Amino acid sequence: MTDFYRGWLRRSAELEDRLARAPVVARATALRWVETAQDARTAVVIGEAAGFATSGTTLQKAEIPAGWHTGRHAHGEEAIHVLEGVGFAVVDGARYEWKPGTTLHIPYRAEHQLVNTGPGTATYVSAHTMDLDLAVKLGRLIQHEEKGPDDGALGARFPAQASQHAADGRRIALHLEDAMDENARRLSGIAHPVAGADKGAHRHAGIWILMGGAESPTDETNGFRAKAVAMSTIFEESPHSASHSHTHTEAMLYVLEGQGYSLIDGVRHDWRAGDAVHIPPRMTHHGHFNDSDARARTLRIEFGIRYFYEALWRGYQKVKDRPSGRH
Ligand SMILES: [Fe+2]
Ligand SMILES: [Fe+2]
Repeated sequence: MTDFYRGWLRRSAELEDRLARAPVVARATALRWVETAQDARTAVVIGEAAGFATSGTTLQKAEIPAGWHTGRHAHGEEAIHVLEGVGFAVVDGARYEWKPGTTLHIPYRAEHQLVNTGPGTATYVSAHTMDLDLAVKLGRLIQHEEKGPDDGALGARFPAQASQHAADGRRIALHLEDAMDENARRLSGIAHPVAGADKGAHRHAGIWILMGGAESPTDETNGFRAKAVAMSTIFEESPHSASHSHTHTEAMLYVLEGQGYSLIDGVRHDWRAGDAVHIPPRMTHHGHFNDSDARARTLRIEFGIRYFYEALWRGYQKVKDRPSGRH
């Protein structure tokens, strides 16, 4: 006879087992592409649907064919980074332009849709907390319109972008060339706008701060107000270099360019452009390395639920700035 308590014991043991075996690297070559109401072609990169053990978080990749728009829908908070193509988003009834390198913040439950206005396929990565939102019974996914060919009506209805910021002041869109490169700031002697903050530029060949962290209200955020999910930064690592290593719970890294490997609790995981790395939802010590002859660029993604649990974690202190090589 089983009781609810035994059920919890069993699930706890199963979870330990699952976390020990869960995949860490999502391979670009192994993505399982599908068609959905929202996207003509999309795949879960890191998420429960792809066999990863997550905190209810998802990294997704999607394509918009030339001359098409995505569906129009609403759900929890989302972060989007455009890899290829040009077009515009309509978020809560306002237009925002995007191109390769643009990062978009979709506020909690905001209606949104992307339109491809360029000659080729547009590709983007998207991060959200759909599974978590549904698990805590606060999730709603509402499909207002399905994806399809674009007849120009949206362009006519929303002819121009008024601002990269929403009516409440929060930033919705940021192009990569407008993101602050911390190294450029250091070299030019411009003071950091946040007293005492140092994003660790000395450890990387380049840092572009996008949404900053969901971690702290004093973090550099470029005016974004991401809470549930932040595409925080793009790091560039020089050939034959190592990032700092540190300890925390779940995060994701999408490889934009180059190749390298991560050491996660002492285990090596190799990756290359188009792959993504899952720092799993347990306390792990990890660092990232570029042992190739070319530069590597990675997009970092973090989720607000992590900070809720890190605040509960007795004895947890973020271990930062440990010299590479010592893990
Ligand atoms: Fe969405
Ligand atoms: Fe990390």
